[in-house]
Amino acid sequence: MLRVIIINGPNLNLLGRREPEIYGEDSFEDFMIYLKGKFVDSDVELTYFQSNHEGELLDKLHEVGFDYDGIVLNAGAYTHTSIAIADAISGIETPVIEVHISNVHKRETFRHHSYVSPVAEGVIVGFGLRGYELAVEYFL
Ligand code: DQA
Repeated sequence: MLRVIIINGPNLNLLGRREPEIYGEDSFEDFMIYLKGKFVDSDVELTYFQSNHEGELLDKLHEVGFDYDGIVLNAGAYTHTSIAIADAISGIETPVIEVHISNVHKRETFRHHSYVSPVAEGVIVGFGLRGYELAVEYFL
């Protein structure tokens, strides 16, 4: 059984309510119900973690990063600022797929740079919540 965790960073707890024209109208909790249903017959166990705190995201990466088979990470705005998250990804063994709901390259220039991309196995941007699904499919 493959173990895959989805880790969401700051403000992503507000999905469905936060700028719906950019991030859509679905809450992540509802999306997780859909996702678990979609992969119910697949050989994958899906876990979800969200935090608004950089240190908690680091702790979670360290906790799962030597045991899990895949990490799907949307670090939110920390993507553009956090060398600590990049270092954590370099320091663990589990491969990380970077996901962004919106197409960050179509938005403000400060969203064009990612500290996560150079240490990620791959990057999926701009496909809405579908991006998480594609990342899980990749690990499968
Ligand atoms: C985001 C893009 C980031 O620039 C932003 O800070 C977010 C969400 C996305 O999923 O599109 O919080 O990671």
